[in-house]
Formats: sequence, structure tokens, C-alpha cells
Amino acid sequence: MNVLLLGSGGREHAMAWKIAQSPKVDLLFIAPGNAGTSLVGINAPISANDFAALKKLAMGIRIDMVVVGPEDPLVNGVYDFFAEDPDLKHIPVIGPSKKGAQLEGSKDFSKAFMQRHGIPTAAYKSFTAETLEDGVKFLKTMKAPYVLKADGLAAGKGVLIINDLQEAIKELRSMLDGKFGAASKTVVIEEFLSGIECSVFVITDGKDYKILPEAKDYKRIGVGDQGLNTGGMGAISPVPFADAVFMKKVEDRIIKPTIQGLASEGIDYKGFLFLGLIKVDGDPVVIEYNARLGDPETEVVMLRIKSDLFDLLEGVAEGNLAEKELIIDTRSAATVMLVSGGYPEAYEKGKRISGLRQVKSSILFHAGTKKDGKKVLTNGGRVIAVSSYGENMAEALKKSFVNAEKVNFENKYFRSDIGFDL
Ligand code: AMP
Ligand code: GLY
Repeated sequence: MNVLLLGSGGREHAMAWKIAQSPKVDLLFIAPGNAGTSLVGINAPISANDFAALKKLAMGIRIDMVVVGPEDPLVNGVYDFFAEDPDLKHIPVIGPSKKGAQLEGSKDFSKAFMQRHGIPTAAYKSFTAETLEDGVKFLKTMKAPYVLKADGLAAGKGVLIINDLQEAIKELRSMLDGKFGAASKTVVIEEFLSGIECSVFVITDGKDYKILPEAKDYKRIGVGDQGLNTGGMGAISPVPFADAVFMKKVEDRIIKPTIQGLASEGIDYKGFLFLGLIKVDGDPVVIEYNARLGDPETEVVMLRIKSDLFDLLEGVAEGNLAEKELIIDTRSAATVMLVSGGYPEAYEKGKRISGLRQVKSSILFHAGTKKDGKKVLTNGGRVIAVSSYGENMAEALKKSFVNAEKVNFENKYFRSDIGFDL
């Protein structure tokens, strides 16, 4: 089988690494990929959002399956593009339809969906420029801190948590006035929840599902969870507080009603579902849905899937996921992200990376890299995810920290306290 994987980050390198291990996979293409994905497959220099170019590629090299890494092609409708094209509709796309991807693409849609299906989430209301004054009144009825969310995709920057009421009112005006462009034309204001967060990943064929290893990521740039939000600075799996009792609640109260809710509304959803959860008084509450796997969570989740991932993907495509086996590695996994100095604000690219070959006891997933002849250069804010196994979390983290020191580029930075709170 020939597989085409869309995306270019650490998540995609980790997925490519795992898919390439399947004896059923002949050729794996990654569009556009990075220097790391070229070690396990063939990079095709095509944007994941250029559907016309993807069609040309898929037809030219007889692709049997498309697997989607990031959210934008999903929200842009790559599933529907393939399903509706007479030349492409025989090729299964692993990822939800455009409508299903609204679970991530629109906070307003996902909140209303959860309300319709009785799925626990923070109380909320949505506002637009027309209802700004109602929004101000609503804020005045709430207690600090105030949570304001841009409805649409805002590259992880669309959530503001503000302590001061006047400041929150000012931000509401500014968001509705286009602070995040079209993404904040609608703003969700919701109740602040206090608790510890984790990410749970599900794979579904629309009827049945399997729960993949859960993970916890570290979003802030600074040690002790201080400073600006990033795409994610590291992750661990399993998550000690996501015990069997908690996971049973997640399955019964969130996963089952979500899968059934999608099916009952006639929404095509065959792919990954990411639950961003917060544990409040022992109970799981949904902070957000994503229509894909997490990054850097995937860089630990893939390590903990022992069975053939491609076999599961075939189950999704063929609608017989229930018959497939998911075996989870009992070891712990950790990843530590090496980032460019300055990230998540302005940073430089094109720095030469050295020491990649010195690393033996970790797996290096490339997040933002590119090849320049024989050299590997930085090509993004997040550069390399140093991922390791251990008999426990401490051992896995120790390997990642040791190897994080071995890989070098100018202005490298990483958080030396991943897992500190557990
Ligand atoms: P999101 O983009 O929805 O995942 O939000 C980004 C981050 O904001 C989350 O990971 C949480 O840390 C925080 N957050 C979002 N919604 C809430 C909420 N209702 N209460 C507390 N924290 C929140
Ligand atoms: N690490 C969080 C995300 O992928 O959205």
C-alpha cells in the first residue's frame, strides 16, 4: 500500500516513523514533510492545503490512503475534496469531513455540539459585533478570571484569560473588531475552570473507536509553566492522574456521546479526535476538541502504540476498526522540544543543526527542519522533539534531557522541567 501523509511538523515525523514500520506499507510520501520525514519516507514538495497539487500527486503515484496530520487541510475540506472527486473518491482520507472538523474549527459549533449531547464543558455564551453590548453585560455577571475565545482557528493564540473586568471588556471589543481577523468575528465567553489538564486521543471509524495513550503537554515557554503560550514544549505519557477511574468517566461521559452525537447528526468523522480535558474535582470536563492528534503529544503517543498503526488506519478506512487490535506499550515516554531562541515570538531560521548522530538512546522527531545538501538546518520555532522510552517517567525524561544537550544549533532553548508537576 502507498500512503500519503499531510503535514510537516514533529507530529508528522512521529506518525511517519510509525506508519513506515508497517509491513503493509510499500511507499510512504509526506507532503511537504521535513528533513526528519525524509529519513523514513519520500517528501513531496507540496503544501498540505494545495488540493489540486495533491490530486495530481495522488493520481501520479497511485496513493491508496491519505492521512492528515494538521487541522487546516481538514477545516479546509480535504476529506470532502477527495470524497467528491470522481478520480479520487476511491482513496480513503483519514480525518474528519469539513463539517466534523468544525469541532476544532469553530468553538461556537463545538460548544453547541457538547450542549446538545450533554457532554461536560464550561458554561458559555457566544457574541458577535451585533451583540457586543450583551457580551459586556454577560461579562459583568461572571467572576474573574474571564475566558475569551476566538471562534475560529487562530494558530493557538485565540484564547485569552484575563483577571480584570475592564481589561476583559476591552479585549472583547478588540476581538470582535478583528484582533484575530475572521477567527474572532464570533467570540465565546466561558466560565473559568480550575484543575489539571491532559489530552486524550481517540481513533474512530465513525461507529467504533479505540482510545490511544493519553498525554500531558507543556504549553508555556518558561520553566514552572511561566511566560507565553507555545505550540507545546514537551509531553509525557502515560499521565499519572488519568487513572482507570478517570478514564472510564472520560469514555462514558465524553467519548461515547461524542461519537454517537456525530453519527446521529450525520457528520462523517473517520479519523483522530483529540480531547483537551481538565480534571475538576475528579471529573473530566472538555476544554476543547481538536480534529487531529496533538503536537508534541504525538511524539510520545506513537512510542506507546505497540501494534501496527497502519492496520488501525485500515480499520478506519474500511469501517471495521472494532476488529483491529490496539496494543499499548506499558513503558513511559517523554519528549522535550528544542526550540529556536526567541520563539514563540520572532526567531531566526536557517541555523545549522549538529550532534544529531550523537544521539543513540532517544528518537529525534524533526519539527522544524530542512535539508540543505548534507546539512540539516532549523526551519521553524519548534525544531526537534527529543523523545525517549523509560521504565518510568523520570527515566524517560532523563534520557531526553541528556540527549537535548547533545543536539546543537545557535540559540537553542528547551524547558528543563518537563514533567515537573507530576
Ligand atoms: P484552547 O485553545 O481552548 O485549548 O485553550 C488554550 C488553553 O487555555 C487551555 O489549554 C487551557 O489551559 C486554557 N483554557 C481554555 N479554556 C479554559 C477554561 N474555561 N478555564 C480555564 N482555562 C482554560
Ligand atoms: N499540543 C496541543 C495541540 O496540539 O493542540
